[in-house]
Amino acid sequence: MAPTPIVDIHTHIYPTTYLTLLRSRTEVPYLLDLPNKSAPPRLIILPSDDDPALPAHQRGRPIDSSYSSINQKLDFMKTHDIHTSVISLANPWLDFLSPEEGYQWAEKVNNEIEDICSTSQNSLYAFATLPLSAPSRSIVAAIECLYLLPHMRGVVLGTTGLSQGLDDPALEPVWSALESAKLLIFLHPHYGLPSSVYGPRASEYGHVLPLALGFPMETTIAFTRMWLSGVFDRHPKLKVLIAHAGGTIPFLSGRVNSCVQHERHFPEHEYGGRGPKRDLKEVLRENVWLDAVVYSPTSVKAAVEIVGKDRVLFGTDHPFFPPLEEGREEWMSVETNVQAVTEAFGDDKQGVTKVLGGNAIELLELNVAGAG
Ligand code: URA
Ligand code: ZN
Repeated sequence: MAPTPIVDIHTHIYPTTYLTLLRSRTEVPYLLDLPNKSAPPRLIILPSDDDPALPAHQRGRPIDSSYSSINQKLDFMKTHDIHTSVISLANPWLDFLSPEEGYQWAEKVNNEIEDICSTSQNSLYAFATLPLSAPSRSIVAAIECLYLLPHMRGVVLGTTGLSQGLDDPALEPVWSALESAKLLIFLHPHYGLPSSVYGPRASEYGHVLPLALGFPMETTIAFTRMWLSGVFDRHPKLKVLIAHAGGTIPFLSGRVNSCVQHERHFPEHEYGGRGPKRDLKEVLRENVWLDAVVYSPTSVKAAVEIVGKDRVLFGTDHPFFPPLEEGREEWMSVETNVQAVTEAFGDDKQGVTKVLGGNAIELLELNVAGAG
């Protein structure tokens, strides 16, 4: 039997039109062209990047053509034996736009990404972008249009929702629309933690603290707030794929649960228990999928332990984390994640196959030749 093809469900793109939008801005997020035209522009993506004390070429991160080129994405997939990718707009999506602009840009970006996928012979699918700065009825309208775009398999969602986080009651119509459309939510961080927690020496460490620690905590808090506010009680069929193996959820879910059980603020239900009606464990096993973008077999094992081996999915986070050495084709970030999955499962070859591709093919109903 041929091995199941590898599917990458965590892989991003900044379409050129989106980069043009960023180039037109002077507030974070924006794109800064350097005087040396042969050097890639810098994406000023975090508030801490916008530091006039730093020379322009040291601010933010370099954004070369791999962030917008589909041919480079396809080459990257070939190099790493990735058969199919589910692409999503990278952070910070459309969060920073005015409501009217957000709605128009969502339509534009989703149509552009659909066109890219439809000319890719089934090697590309996508998660759509929502106009989160718009009123919830516009977001619902945007969700309802997605059935017209046959390669969309869900939506990518940041953690801030309509600006008040994902436990905001104003998001109810959005959850209902996503639940009825059976669209998977790909929950992805962007904002990290307040800069003050990284300390006065943070800039000496580049993006290490925000990416390695801020992102996972942000995701953990966002998902926990969803659960605490009863989103999964009211929307039992909502499906959430959480980036970076759920941040720290696999490690902290027991503690979260215990804190709820000991919190007097929550009255005890008539049938016992406190807080949300559906147990965190149950929600993790029935509503949640985790990606395997964690770079460590220990963390992959924790993810599998908490959601089950049918619910962990391989990803690369391309084009972030490219090799630092010039001219190296294989990406260490990808190899580390493949190895982490392989080591986590040991002799369980079926587990490896499921996480590397089988689970994604089934969950997202991907048409992948040679699968099954
Ligand atoms: N990965 C992402 O998806 N976004 C970032 O900003 C950094 C890494
Ligand atoms: Zn990502």
